[in-house]
Amino acid sequence: MAKQNQLSFLTSATLLVIIVSVSETLCRPLGEEHLLKQHEEWMVINRRIYKDAAEKAKRYEIFQENVKRINAFNNGKDVGYKLAVNKFTDLTNEEFRASYTGYKRRPTSVLSSVDAKPFKYANFTATPAALDWRTKKAVTSVKDQGQCGSCWAFSVVAVIEGITMIKKGKLLSLSEQELVDCDVNGKNLGCDGGFMDSAFEFIISKGGLTTEANYPYRGKEQTCNTAKTGYRAASITGYQDVPANNEKALLQAVANQPVSVAVEAGGFDFQFYSGGVFKGSCGTSVDHAVTVVGYGKISGGTKYWLLKNSWGTGWGESGYMRIQRDMRSKAGLCGLAMNASYPIA
Ligand SMILES: *[C@@H]1O[C@H](CO)[C@@H](O)[C@H](O)[C@H]1NC(C)=O
Ligand SMILES: *[C@@H]1O[C@H](CO)[C@@H](O)[C@H](O)[C@H]1NC(C)=O
Repeated sequence: MAKQNQLSFLTSATLLVIIVSVSETLCRPLGEEHLLKQHEEWMVINRRIYKDAAEKAKRYEIFQENVKRINAFNNGKDVGYKLAVNKFTDLTNEEFRASYTGYKRRPTSVLSSVDAKPFKYANFTATPAALDWRTKKAVTSVKDQGQCGSCWAFSVVAVIEGITMIKKGKLLSLSEQELVDCDVNGKNLGCDGGFMDSAFEFIISKGGLTTEANYPYRGKEQTCNTAKTGYRAASITGYQDVPANNEKALLQAVANQPVSVAVEAGGFDFQFYSGGVFKGSCGTSVDHAVTVVGYGKISGGTKYWLLKNSWGTGWGESGYMRIQRDMRSKAGLCGLAMNASYPIA
């Protein structure tokens, strides 16, 4: 009896070995099975439905490439920040740039020279060593622009939310959709991109901005709903540009209030950034707008800016990025010191 059992065990073991070796020769390269499964799971989590098998195959190819590159980066030399699979993983870098940024995407014909108003925080000396406007309750929760180049509206809304809290003691979530739908007669182009300074001018001319609750975000261009814009929840009296290419001046401004900045965010590392102090490869062709909501220094000594982004909480450090501060290059990392501005209230 025992002998028979042993025999049948040996037979099944042999059979198993044969099956495994056969299946190994028949299967895709090692790791592929795992990636296919990872893509299926990712599709569920990100509610992605592809129109047909061809589209799914194409998206899987891109997903696979991105995952391999992310893993290679994370397994390489530690540079102080990490990448991760996120909702952008089935997009090529070109597709990502085309859909999720939006600082002056499409060149506008009429670009009047932006009024360089005096910088009111010049020679402001009382800058604390570190600052996080979130702890002062001057920052609303992270929002998501979706597949719309409306970053400029999110950046402007975030700084107006900030100054309203600082001046009035009220943290209100304000409407990006009002800007996307209604700020259409100047230089701004809704989901096709825009400029922060132009949006400040629009808000000043309209006497303020309404709330997110009153005019919620839809992620697409609609006709301006004037029935909703009558209620002005927050207003500003002006705006100023931070002297360009000057991180010291930017620090003086951020020490006083959250500040709008433009960055080059179209790179692979930016697309998949998941944490740490970003030192990634990027140039100064600014294509995205974010908000500086603080600054600090990690224990190793690297100084950083704290950026609030509008790509949801699944990107970066729950929607935020720490990016290296005080670079030798005057423009700042990814050009962040080139086009900084803030509202006056
Ligand atoms: C800031 O201080 C410097 C040095 O004291 C001075 O030259 C400069 O004019 C000041 N800038 C402003 C805007 O007050
Ligand atoms: C952004 O900054 C660059 C460099 O200072 C400047 O040439 C450009 O006109 C600025 N763009 C806007 C929209 O202010």
